[in-house]
Amino acid sequence: MKLRWFTTSMLVGLSLMAAAHAQTDPLTPTGKWTAHQTGQAQTPPMGWNSFNAFRIEVSEDKVMGAAEALVDTGLAKLGYVYVNIDDGWWLKRRQTDGRLEIRTSIFPSAAIKGKDTSFKPFTDRLHRMGLKAGIYSEIGRNACSQAWDLKSPNLPEGTVAEREVGLEGHVDQDLKLFFTDWGFDYIKIDACGVADYTANAKVITTPGYRVREPLIARDRPALDKAEDLKAMYVEVADSLRKYNPDNDYVLSICSWGRADVRTWGKDVGNLWRTSYDINPTWGSMLHSFDSAVTRPLYAGPGRWNDPDMLFVGKGDFDVNHLTEAKSHFALWAMLNAPLLIGYDLRGAPKDLIDIWGNADLVAVNQDKGGHQAVLAYRSNDVQILVKTLSNGKKAVALFNRSEAAKTVSLTARDLKFDAAKPIGLRNLWSKETLPAFTGSQRFTLGAHETLVFEAEGTHRLGQGTYLSEIPGRINVAADGIPFPEGDPHIYQATRASAGRGGDTPMYAGWGGAQADASPYGTELTVGEKAFAYGIGVLSGSRMEVQANGEYRRFVASVGVDAATRNRKAAVTFQIYGDGRLLTESKPVTYGDAAADLTADVSGVRVVELIVRANKDAAVATAWGDARFEK
Ligand code: GLA
Repeated sequence: MKLRWFTTSMLVGLSLMAAAHAQTDPLTPTGKWTAHQTGQAQTPPMGWNSFNAFRIEVSEDKVMGAAEALVDTGLAKLGYVYVNIDDGWWLKRRQTDGRLEIRTSIFPSAAIKGKDTSFKPFTDRLHRMGLKAGIYSEIGRNACSQAWDLKSPNLPEGTVAEREVGLEGHVDQDLKLFFTDWGFDYIKIDACGVADYTANAKVITTPGYRVREPLIARDRPALDKAEDLKAMYVEVADSLRKYNPDNDYVLSICSWGRADVRTWGKDVGNLWRTSYDINPTWGSMLHSFDSAVTRPLYAGPGRWNDPDMLFVGKGDFDVNHLTEAKSHFALWAMLNAPLLIGYDLRGAPKDLIDIWGNADLVAVNQDKGGHQAVLAYRSNDVQILVKTLSNGKKAVALFNRSEAAKTVSLTARDLKFDAAKPIGLRNLWSKETLPAFTGSQRFTLGAHETLVFEAEGTHRLGQGTYLSEIPGRINVAADGIPFPEGDPHIYQATRASAGRGGDTPMYAGWGGAQADASPYGTELTVGEKAFAYGIGVLSGSRMEVQANGEYRRFVASVGVDAATRNRKAAVTFQIYGDGRLLTESKPVTYGDAAADLTADVSGVRVVELIVRANKDAAVATAWGDARFEK
């Protein structure tokens, strides 16, 4: 009797443990699409933000000037509707009830009758103009300006507690204020409060703020506390849903690529910064670009990599450097980056308006498929990016990063088009249509020039689609990275402000899933065979793919990739359809030839691609030529 009781309770215990494991094991198929889906960001947000134009010196005049210019120039009609206030708007946190107060000396309309201040008159005005309003806050207690712009006239004032204007400890209260009471539609949430207020920091020892244990360890990224930071943003995301029953909000996570946000951002917010702040230099633009360009599989409708706001109009991208300005803009369009203008729009020259206002490039960025461009050709000088459009065509950018003219061939293979059939190109800057070519076509790019075309041709698969052409339909639910490492391929630009990082790889995610490349950026190779196309991913991974019942078969040649660091462990590839195992490979190890897998996916909505290793080993693997066929 006693024994039986023991056995039963043990079994119950074990099955509870198994259930808990199934819930937490990221490789367990869900049969569902699990990426974050709320908020208004089916296409990348577009609009204006005050920071690149004015840093902390924001004011109502400046912001309304930008809003009026967006309407008057026609940019608003093109989609530039978010008018976002950045750091600098706050005065203090009132101690009687914790309510935030606005600095009415710079936002006069916020001085309403009574004891409170309110942004409602301001957001009402924007809404009446057909625009949307964005606010800025901080995940910790103190803001970035309080650590980095100590001479700004717009720093919060008062006691230590009054100057704690960030969300920490006030998430619900502040989000209700911003969204329900003040009527904002967008929030950017920074993270200096959990990075810069460490015990020995100057801001602690001199002006006097409360010490906050860092979750982002500025110069030692390996010490970042990703789970803790993610939990703070999850609390915000939950609260946003609560105070926005109409779903009319956007959550922008600003932890600058740190604390592994390039991996989890898509599960929590609508966009997440992939790097530190851009500045108006060519090297900084390259750095920001590189931080997002290898991450197409992590983005898609509702969730976007954010290489930071546009600097078109300033420094290396000013009216005297239109080649650079156009490159910067075209690249952001191809990356599906948010298009947030960072320029004083009051009196902007026509040459700049024409860049932001290039309707063809805006359409590329806003294409409803949400497929971020994929690198088709990589070198240190020239790169070719190809982006799938929902009209069956491709957008292609030929980008010369270097200081000298370069000649490069664009090939049918880059476009995944049939090399024997004619390919047509339309230049999205000059609007000129080029004579059709077959096979390949040579182009000479000036220094820093980006040529960008819409390309039309015959797909080499006929009716099929390579997975690497539809990154917006892929959710990397688990990418198998065992511990965070910075991506060494990101251009390390010289930084004016020493000690702010940038000189060593800072952004975790190295080894993540890649389109048409191994997890380490090399050509996909299994055994003796190289694959021009496919998905490279580590073992311990699970990808969800939206098939939506549109395809008949899924086909791939799978195996351990030559780039693997682990040459011993065996891996198994599994294909699930709506939670049901469709087929799996035998265990394979490094050196084995690629194994062909075919699965019938007729009627299947979500295909899951899982790679398991027999140990806790991170094995680089390839889903070579992974494709759907009709
Ligand atoms: C950080 C952010 C910037 C900007 C400033 C404001 O540096 O990354 O985009 O918001 O703070 O102080």
